[in-house]
Amino acid sequence: MSRFYITTPIYYVNDVPHLGHAYTTIAADAMARFHRAVGDDTRFLTGTDEFGLKVEQAASARGLEPLALADQVVERFRSTWAQLDISNDDFIRTTEPRHREVVQELWRRMTERGDVYKGKYEGWYCVSCEAYYPEADLSEGRLCPIHKSAATWLSESSYFFRMSRYQEPLLQHFERNPGFVQPEGHRNEVVSFVKRGLRDLSISRTTFRWGVPVPGDEEHVIYVWIDALTNYMSALGPIDGELHRRYWPATCHLIGKDIIRFHAVYWPCMLLSAGLPLPETVFSHGWWTVRGEKISKSMPATRVDPNRLADDIGVDAVRYYLLREVPLGLDGDFAYENLIGRYNAELAHDLGNLVSRALTVAQKFAGGTLPAIQAPRREGAHIEITEVAHRTIAEAAAHYRGYAPSRALEAIWRLVGEANRYINNTQPWTMAKSAARAEELEHTIRTALEAILCVARMLAPVMPKTAADIAELVGGAADMTRTWPAPERFGRELAPGARVGESRILFPRIDEEKQAALLDRWIPADARAAEPSAPARTPAAGPAKKAKPKAKSSAPVAGPVTFEDFGRMDLRVAQVLSAEAIPGATKLLRLMLDAGEPEPRQVVAGIAEAYQPGDLVGRKVIFLANLEPAAIRGVTSQGMILAAGEKGVVGLSALDRDVPVGTKVR
Ligand code: MSP
Repeated sequence: MSRFYITTPIYYVNDVPHLGHAYTTIAADAMARFHRAVGDDTRFLTGTDEFGLKVEQAASARGLEPLALADQVVERFRSTWAQLDISNDDFIRTTEPRHREVVQELWRRMTERGDVYKGKYEGWYCVSCEAYYPEADLSEGRLCPIHKSAATWLSESSYFFRMSRYQEPLLQHFERNPGFVQPEGHRNEVVSFVKRGLRDLSISRTTFRWGVPVPGDEEHVIYVWIDALTNYMSALGPIDGELHRRYWPATCHLIGKDIIRFHAVYWPCMLLSAGLPLPETVFSHGWWTVRGEKISKSMPATRVDPNRLADDIGVDAVRYYLLREVPLGLDGDFAYENLIGRYNAELAHDLGNLVSRALTVAQKFAGGTLPAIQAPRREGAHIEITEVAHRTIAEAAAHYRGYAPSRALEAIWRLVGEANRYINNTQPWTMAKSAARAEELEHTIRTALEAILCVARMLAPVMPKTAADIAELVGGAADMTRTWPAPERFGRELAPGARVGESRILFPRIDEEKQAALLDRWIPADARAAEPSAPARTPAAGPAKKAKPKAKSSAPVAGPVTFEDFGRMDLRVAQVLSAEAIPGATKLLRLMLDAGEPEPRQVVAGIAEAYQPGDLVGRKVIFLANLEPAAIRGVTSQGMILAAGEKGVVGLSALDRDVPVGTKVR
């Protein structure tokens, strides 16, 4: 049995939960549920970050003490997580005594190492980040590069952490543990940041009181990030205590890309100084925008409320959409229309139909009782579905383990598709007409139900309620913990003679009328009015972003090509495996593409001015696979990815839904 300890960031209590918070927490929950299902000793932590100037200011703006504000907001987080079926084992609040003790203990250890000294700090501070910025890193007008709000000049006496001492040890750690920062694009950014030089860090404040006091110097409170990062450890109780020994180091800190520097640089340096082991992985996921806009307090239309969505469309549909729509690690844009599109196409149509059809067949031709287990059949469709199930179980497990829930779901959907095909191809209703085929009919009904149970078990990390419902309907146990399917048991899981439920519609289709009503409920009236043209209200899954003004093309349309000419272009879907700058070439990136071939393809793309390498990894693109290979700046390019733009690149080719790599584009 392995051990798996996963954490989410602890959320600031100056804000109530929104889509972004829900995303991180749902993703971590799916990982924790998967590891419990395979029998790992799993622990999953989330919580709230309650100290610091930001929270103090938010409380005073409401006429509250900081702790009173925290008490209120914490309840919002707890109830949101309960509604979203978050299975955290613990919830830490940084205002708890257990937290303070470990923060101070860590401080002492760092001091004993000679890594803490007193000095004076002056610099530009962003309260929203709770961080100082060198002037060169500020945007024009001395704005915070992240929040675009004015940075404040602060000057105070401060304790410093000798972080500079850990630059080399940290680089060595990156070198020896390539999986420490994931995905790879983010790792490269962090490595370059550290290579540019680590400076000592100011780790105490005297200008406000709302924090953990510095041991032995009550004038100072500990810098909120030093305190906050320690939550991952303080939640396990005293260092050397039982829980600490059992779960530290954490397996994965799942975080948003905005806070990677704190987790992949400050935190490991603190641990190195305190002589404690480093977490295995810091996995940073992308950033959601809402209909093209950054989520912000000043824009109500971006404040997607996960609870309301879950009330209206079901918790599992929201969990599914968020984890399926965007590979973990990439940025994503949330559009209500896409949520409904996926709901209709994948949940109501693919999965819902499969379950209701199989149950109908079992009711009609087996009297609602699970047929006996038969010897495996050695022909056609029966072999195929067994093979697909075996493959899917292995693939989905590998993707969950690799923090790729979207790919796990993609794999699971191959079995959903195969099971639908199995029913179509075997035609149990035809078998039922011939007494000679009674055994085959029984085998077919059982296999279809077994496939559904297998799907349910693999889906359970993402859709726990649906999985339990399906398991119960097909006559399997509804308890979905510790139940990752074993390939060798496929076809023999369900107990003969068990009752099969009546056919039921798990995901009622959202028709156009209902969709219109939901959009009216979800999108604030002022946001609707502000749209240049209403987004398409069709249930299709196409991305329905806010309509942008049409760009005029200065280039006339080129002369005609024949259909044959076009047919010579072998266009394919490929996924970006890695992306990196080419030294000395400001416009070029070297991409490795998975195009469904045995070997990855190397392609040089002139997109460096429009895309960061970290934004590309995991993204699916369309590329010309049979372009003559060419050496560009000494790097061989074996194809070309399609991008929009005349002089510079303004957008990359993309697909409106998940399509397997290697698929031809015509
Ligand atoms: N309190 C700090 C974290 C301390 S961890 C030791 C903090 N809190 S936060 O509430 O501002 O945000 C925490 C996390 O919420 C982000 O890192 C990210 O995981 C998630 N998200 C917030 N907005 C988001 C999006 N728009 N999109 C995706 N995730 C986002 O930072």
